[in-house]
Amino acid sequence: MNRPAANDLTHWKPLADLALACAPLETLATDEQGAETLRIDTCGLYLDFSKHRVNDEILANLLALAEERDWQRRTEAMFAGETINTTEQRAALHTALRAPRDAQPETIGDVVHEQLTRLNKFAASVIEGGWRGYTGKAITDIVHIGIGGSHLGPELAVEALRDIPSRLTFHFVANVDGSVLESALANTDPETTLFTIVSKSFTTLETRENATAARNWFLERTGDADAIARHFVAVTTNTEAATAFGIDRANLFPIWDWVGGRFSMWSAVGLPILLATGAKGFSALLAGAHAMDHHFATTPAERNGPLLAALLGIWNYNFLGVNNHAILPYDHRLRLLPNYLQQLETESNGKSVRHDGSAVGLHTMAILWGGEGTTGQHAFHQMLHQGTRAFSADFIVAREADHPWPEQHRWLLANCFSQSQAMLLGQDTDDPHKQVDGGHATTTIIMDRLSPHTLGALLAFYEHKVFCQGLIWDINSFDQWGVELGKRLADVIFEQLGGATTLTQDDSTHALIKRARAASNPEQS
Ligand code: F6P
Repeated sequence: MNRPAANDLTHWKPLADLALACAPLETLATDEQGAETLRIDTCGLYLDFSKHRVNDEILANLLALAEERDWQRRTEAMFAGETINTTEQRAALHTALRAPRDAQPETIGDVVHEQLTRLNKFAASVIEGGWRGYTGKAITDIVHIGIGGSHLGPELAVEALRDIPSRLTFHFVANVDGSVLESALANTDPETTLFTIVSKSFTTLETRENATAARNWFLERTGDADAIARHFVAVTTNTEAATAFGIDRANLFPIWDWVGGRFSMWSAVGLPILLATGAKGFSALLAGAHAMDHHFATTPAERNGPLLAALLGIWNYNFLGVNNHAILPYDHRLRLLPNYLQQLETESNGKSVRHDGSAVGLHTMAILWGGEGTTGQHAFHQMLHQGTRAFSADFIVAREADHPWPEQHRWLLANCFSQSQAMLLGQDTDDPHKQVDGGHATTTIIMDRLSPHTLGALLAFYEHKVFCQGLIWDINSFDQWGVELGKRLADVIFEQLGGATTLTQDDSTHALIKRARAASNPEQS
């Protein structure tokens, strides 16, 4: 299908003109009446976009961009399982993983629900201690091995929901750096440890190396290959490779190519979440995400949270020159959210070509980073308030605390709100060292309370935001070809570091390899 480039959309040029003439953020954001349309209460989340530099006219034009991109029909196409991942010829049906049985696309409803039933049964036996290790002891430790989408969501959710009591201890191993596996295994006992090996492809280097090392560690201590069946389970689309690795077929949980890695925590990839929070917690997480799916699919554009978030991001990045976006959770339990969103947003929308292969011709996803408040206030917030870089930010906080110190929670909220206020208003002084310009656009999201339901809604909110930005830029948000080159080069360098082949590198890389070889084996330098 022939679609215009984003900057050839009819409403793009008027927006560019409006940006040039736009009043300062401080002025716009204090128009209480206008701002009310920018506050949305849905799925246990209060989405406050009122600190963005927009007025009615700008908003109308942004919404018109979405109309020009036919966002509603294309949202329906995603939910219906059309092949929207055009470079891999796949659907992107993560929404089907959290839909109730009667709301799922017919063709896949059964497999999703059969899988969930199997997962729930397996998790219950581990949680209740019915699942025994090879010496008859109950499992106490879960070592989760996976990377990227097979790691970030599960670890984020297990950490975020750790107020739900669990007798299991969780360890996450992603990096190929062996020190991560070493510390995960340091205090675990093979008799009571369950390894969850998660890799959509089952070919990813880091997961392959960590899983192989873990299996060797296990075999050295047990000396019993049959014991693997009680201690290793896998989640993958590549069931052949997992079986070849030694995973018992009974311990294999398939996933499907219509689930993108970074959208996969709602599938069997979320097994650690299920083990940590039980069937009740996991189904509440899915229900929260489904509630947001429903909001997104059925709410008119001007009250649609994910769509507005996407359009305001486009406004900031493409029209106001913002080039980085900070994620600032004011909740220690959400401290991994910036890492999770870094993959979700930048691996999805950090692209420079359109569906048809032509250049996007403008900036796509901003640099996304962040860190938890209030600790960040004593570190990088200095740069936010007085540095020279343009940024926007998302503040995320829970209205209710889950600890017994209400005053501390009041301080947390006070700091969260005062930071976005300072970023909005700044302060004018005669002392240039104390001048704070303000004028930075921020979104504040207040969760009623951090629960599986609101966490599901929050993450689905960001997924749909990503989808909408991809629509506007006309890029495929569901592939990630850019990561392949580094993987291929690493294979060659790995061999050369081993000294097996002649060096065929550029001079700079050649020198690094020589230096590393000299350190590990003076003979080979
Ligand atoms: O290298 C990027 C990537 O393919 C991500 O998209 C993915 O989430 C991650 O690697 C892990 O892939 P897998 O689940 O196949 O091991």
